[in-house]
Parts: sequence; structure tokens; C-alpha cells
Amino acid sequence: MKETVVSGIRPTGKLHLGNYFGAVTNFVKMQYDYNCFFFIADLHSLTTHPTPQDLHGYVKHVLVEYLACGIDPEQSTIYIQSDVPEVAELYLYLNMNAYLGELERSTSFKDKIRSQPNNVNAGLLTYPALMAADILIHRASKVPVGKDQEQHLEMTRTFGNRFNRLYNSEYFVEPFAFNYAKNLVKVPGLDGKGKMSKSEGDGNCIYLSDSPEIIRKKLLRAVTDSGPSVENQTKPEAIQNLFDLMNIVSSPDTIAHYDALYNNVAIRYGDLKKQIAEDMIIFNSPIRERIEELSKDNSYLRKVAEQGAVKARESAQKTMKEVRALIGFKSF
Ligand code: TYM
Repeated sequence: MKETVVSGIRPTGKLHLGNYFGAVTNFVKMQYDYNCFFFIADLHSLTTHPTPQDLHGYVKHVLVEYLACGIDPEQSTIYIQSDVPEVAELYLYLNMNAYLGELERSTSFKDKIRSQPNNVNAGLLTYPALMAADILIHRASKVPVGKDQEQHLEMTRTFGNRFNRLYNSEYFVEPFAFNYAKNLVKVPGLDGKGKMSKSEGDGNCIYLSDSPEIIRKKLLRAVTDSGPSVENQTKPEAIQNLFDLMNIVSSPDTIAHYDALYNNVAIRYGDLKKQIAEDMIIFNSPIRERIEELSKDNSYLRKVAEQGAVKARESAQKTMKEVRALIGFKSF
């Protein structure tokens, strides 16, 4: 039997290269060898209180972009999280065994306390239990995600194992974060520090749907420094980040060329940025064209979402029937 894979993306805007290289490209490859479930985590995005219009628009963006990246709805199950109410039920059961101390220690919770101090809601605190429900509901063993999700996977294993111990079973398997490369990926942003992230602003991200003009403009503004002063100098973070971006879109020869220029103190950052921009444009173009086409086809999108909901609910209902029996909800 094929191993099961689950992964999701919060619909908070358009997908960027971090989402693509951290998660989506792995989903696309995995769908031929695994039993794959890919979903749009709209329940998770409620923690930031989107308007109904924004929520609906973002869900459509992610659905279109999943398909444009090559996720095949005949091969895998693509669904919208809120179409599967069993997820909310499992979330409730997992919350009963998730402790305040461990939830408060989660890095993403601490980040949110800092970034949205006026909206520290219970959904943010119990976010890891909802994420565990997403994964455990299909009893998945592999979860293609970027490096920033590693701690959530660890918590998912803790909650699954705790459930097993409590109900004296081996029902849930342990899921692990997955990337075809040896290590999990962290794609840097354009602001010279940290990862590519929507919350750091549009200027920090290259979106899959960005036009060539926008990509060129964003790269021109990417943060650099005054340049190397001695040969073979270690690259500071902002410059290493640009090389890391080059690594994902440019050819090995191009990377070697610019690396040698840096090491010989002959690099011109303007040329480096132009090269990265042109290689990103080549990478993005076919995806961007498919995004434009698919966005117009609402009846196809509706069909994909409906078909995905049926398949995902079938799997989720089977799990919930067994989970309820393990907990002790039985008929007389
Ligand atoms: P989200 O929506 O923030 O990001 C979606 C996916 O993109 C990856 N990612 C990155 N990878 C590398 N470099 C980056 N700069 C970068 N930025 C984002 C994320 O690691 C993620 O894989 N909690 C999740 C969504 C979720 C989920 C799940 C994922 C909900 N339930 C169950 C897997 C399984 C999140 O907020 O991802």
C-alpha cells in the first residue's frame, strides 16, 4: 500500500517562491508515488480575521496556483479544509490532550504575540492542534513543508503519540516533514534578512504570479552591501541570500560565474540582481500563464473542489469512526 502524504497552505494571499520551493514542488513530485492529500488551510487563516471577500479570493488564488504548479486532481486529492468538518471534530479531541505550557512554547505562537499583540486569540494558541488534526485525519506519514514547520511536525507527533497512549492503541503513525533534498528548505526574502514571507511585505516576496516588470523592480530593490573588500571573503547574510535565490532558479554555470566574481572582488551587484531577475522570469513564466488561464475557469475550479471534498471526507470519515470508537463514543 502507498504511504499517505498530507500538506496544506494558508490562504492569506498569493503563493511565493518560498511556498513553491519549500513545499509545492515536493507535492507535485510526490503525487505519483504516494497517496496524496493537498488542502487549502482556510480554517487556519481565520486566526487573522480576514473579510469574507478576502478569504474567498485567497482560497481561489491557492486553488488556481496549486493547479498551475502541476498538482493533478485526478492523481491526488485537492480540497478546501472547511469542506471537511471532520477536521474540526478531531481538532476538538486533540485540544483535550494539548497542554497550555507546550502550546505557549511554540515558536509560531510567540511570533504571533509579537506581530499581532491586539489579537492573541485561542485559535492562535491551539494552531498546532489544528495542524495535527489536518495530518492525523488521513493518518499521513510524510508532510512536505518548509523548515519553518518543523516544530509543528514535532508537536503533531507528540499529540498523536499521546492519543495512542491514552487510548492504549497504535492508531496514529508518526508523521515527518519531508523534502526530496536532504534538508528542509528555507527560501530567503529580498530584504537581506530572514525568510521570504508575506508578513514581511510584498517587496520581500517574489510571487508566482508576478509579471516580468514587477520581478525586475523587486530585484533592483533587494538589499545588498557595499561589496567585498578582500578576496574569498565570507558572504554576509544579505548577499548569501541573493546567492541562495540564484541557487534555486539559475544554472550551476551561472552560479559559479558570479561566485568567482564575488571571490575575486570583481562583482557588480546590479548585474547579479539582473541575472537573478531574468532567471526568475524564465522560471515563473509558464506557471504565470497557467494561473491566468485557470483563473478564468470557475466551473472547472468548482468541479475540482467538489471532487476533492468528496474524496477527502471519505478518508476523514473512516478515521473519525475509528477515533470515536477508541475514545469510547459507542452506541448502546
Ligand atoms: P504557510 O501557509 O505559512 O506556508 C505554506 C508552505 O510554504 C512553506 N514556506 C516556506 N518554505 C521555505 N522557505 C520559505 N521562505 C517559506 N515560506 C513558506 C511552509 O513551510 C509551508 O510548507 N501551518 C502551515 C499550513 C498548514 C499545514 C497543515 C501544512 C496547516 N495545516 C498540515 C502541512 C500540514 C502554514 O502556515 O504554512
